[in-house]
Amino acid sequence: MAQAFEQEFSASPEIFSAPGRVNLIGEHTDYNEGFVLPSAIGFYVGVAVSPRPDRKLLLRSTGFSDKFEFALDRLPSRKLFAWCDYVVGVAVMLGHAGISLKGANFLVHGQVPIGAGLSSSAALEVASALALLSVASQDLPLTDVAKLCQRAENEFVGARVGIMDQFVSCFGQEGHAILLDCRSLESKLVPIPKNVKFVICNTKVKHELSSGEYNRRREECEEAVRVLSKTYPGVYSLRDVSSDQLSSLKSTMDPVLYKRSKHVISENERVVRAAECFCAGDLDDVGRLMRESHCSLRDDYEVSCRELDLMVEAAEGLPGYYGGRMTGGGFGGCTVNLVDERHAKTFADHLAERYQQATKISPEIMICSAANGAALESKKTTA
Ligand code: GLA
Repeated sequence: MAQAFEQEFSASPEIFSAPGRVNLIGEHTDYNEGFVLPSAIGFYVGVAVSPRPDRKLLLRSTGFSDKFEFALDRLPSRKLFAWCDYVVGVAVMLGHAGISLKGANFLVHGQVPIGAGLSSSAALEVASALALLSVASQDLPLTDVAKLCQRAENEFVGARVGIMDQFVSCFGQEGHAILLDCRSLESKLVPIPKNVKFVICNTKVKHELSSGEYNRRREECEEAVRVLSKTYPGVYSLRDVSSDQLSSLKSTMDPVLYKRSKHVISENERVVRAAECFCAGDLDDVGRLMRESHCSLRDDYEVSCRELDLMVEAAEGLPGYYGGRMTGGGFGGCTVNLVDERHAKTFADHLAERYQQATKISPEIMICSAANGAALESKKTTA
């Protein structure tokens, strides 16, 4: 990256990196102020950066041929529907936060598969935030970086995502998942036993409806809270609702809102239990909870799709398999499987074969472990 950067900008860069993530359990709970249990994975987005004497932001990518140039004092207020949106969105939010930015040259190099639900966008946002802050000689606590990147995605890119992806991209730890309380942002590291791998299987489909349906699920949850809080005044989000309270209103509630709430409430319970099981090294129980999570996402939250279901079913019975589920927002993207390290490679081969036979699509399978979060990879070298 440093070489490519020097060729492009005739300057030597600092390089920041931030990883993608896989969510082990706790889907569609973050924006309901609930719990999630993601890990960072060893695919990173790198941002090489050097200061400029003027107030311009020059953006290049090794993966895309389009080049962008912006004046820092006249950053666009709307997205351009291009990869630069994630960088510009972060710059705009830093500006709103009162950070005075300086001119910079940027070169982005992404390893996180795009559109697979592994949070390449959060990784780009976080690495960009660190790069922009460094050039401006400014510092922000990492939790604020995560929040600011989420705001860039919400307000600039227009996706009403929760905090999970940006948080884990900032705070990931090798060998650990992060149990995050998305209301308080308190987090706890949960050790992942060394003899287990995350086998991540990309269905290679992404159904068009995903972003519209995502926002619709959020609205349904908000509507459910309005309904539930009429009977239970202390309810501000689905996080506050117990399964008994929900059951007590089953006969009067809209059936769709009931199902959405049921998923979120039961998923929060599963996340907390899964974290305990990981700590106890009880992988069979984690696997069972992952399967339950998938069924709940498929039947009650209705964000799975045929390909994800087939990929999950295809894993059943394979040696070394503890459990698996769809991961991320849904309607395509990846499944995550917890697999004994000794069987991971054959598991991946057999799963690929089964999925291909069922769908005629050749999947992409990645064998991963929990990795570290965002970092400064290399300091500027002075000749
Ligand atoms: C996407 C969003 C996250 C989260 C998941 C669903 O990945 O970016 O904030 O809501 O969907 O769990």
